Amino acid sequence: MLAAGIDVGSLTTEVVILEQGKILHYTIMPTGSNSRTAAERAIKESLKAAGLNRPDLKCIVATGYGRVSIEFADQRITEITCHGRGAHFWNPQVRTVIDIGGQDSKVIRLNKEGRAVDFAMNDKCAAGTGRFLEVMAQALEVELSGLSDLSDRAQNTVSISSMCTVFAESEVVSLIAQGLPREDIARGLHQSIADRMAGLVNRVGLEEEVMITGGVAKNRAVVRILNKKLNTRIIVPPEPQIAGALGAALLAWDEINI
Ligand SMILES: Nc1ncnc2c1ncn2[C@@H]1O[C@H](COP(=O)(O)OP(=O)(O)OP(=O)(O)O)[C@@H](O)[C@H]1O
Ligand SMILES: [Mg+2]
Repeated sequence: MLAAGIDVGSLTTEVVILEQGKILHYTIMPTGSNSRTAAERAIKESLKAAGLNRPDLKCIVATGYGRVSIEFADQRITEITCHGRGAHFWNPQVRTVIDIGGQDSKVIRLNKEGRAVDFAMNDKCAAGTGRFLEVMAQALEVELSGLSDLSDRAQNTVSISSMCTVFAESEVVSLIAQGLPREDIARGLHQSIADRMAGLVNRVGLEEEVMITGGVAKNRAVVRILNKKLNTRIIVPPEPQIAGALGAALLAWDEINI
């Protein structure tokens, strides 16, 4: 039996297909400007790649900010629940999930069944999210995937005082113009993300084990600085960006197995 989860995020859309409760296939694609089109395309391409047809999927659960517009979904469930469930699947000892996506970031407290019992969220602005890092990578003229290495080569940390992405971008441009090393600026940017996330963690309280999900989990500098700041060892799952879609697929799997 097969079930699927789809997470239509602000920047990326993921699909996870489960066979007998195990991951058979997953896809990560850009969302683009239309979440409905992105969802259709992602499910179509996933089915094709896995050699399946739409009727093979007995249940589809949708999550992410674009979940409301997905007509083919049997159920729509919040990202909080789905990221929690995905993290629990990878490691049932996880009690705190840090999700840093493209547009929002959150900290979720789980019970031992992997159910969300508390959370704190920053969804008011892009500061402290993946989009913030994308804008800053551009300002520093480095690929997003190279931002972490740039920061690792820093001798010092240049602190970034602006809280807002737009102001922080002008601040970065002006720091570069003043001749400050790009490495030190990059370290400061990662530090500011870690500071914001630590603030959210403190709101729900840190309970180990801690796992990071969302695309920004692929930024090693963010994870390293957060480890130091929170005095813990954050678990990075095999593919952190699919956590929401994986949780959605597991919830779909539950539906057809009750
Ligand atoms: N290889 C990578 N290295 C560093 N960062 C990455 C990498 N891949 C993705 N990211 C980061 O992940 C972010 C996107 O994360 P994700 O796919 O979880 O967002 P989303 O689910 O679409 O957004 P949201 O949940 O806020 O709606 C990008 O903005 C980028 O900063
Ligand atoms: Mg997301």
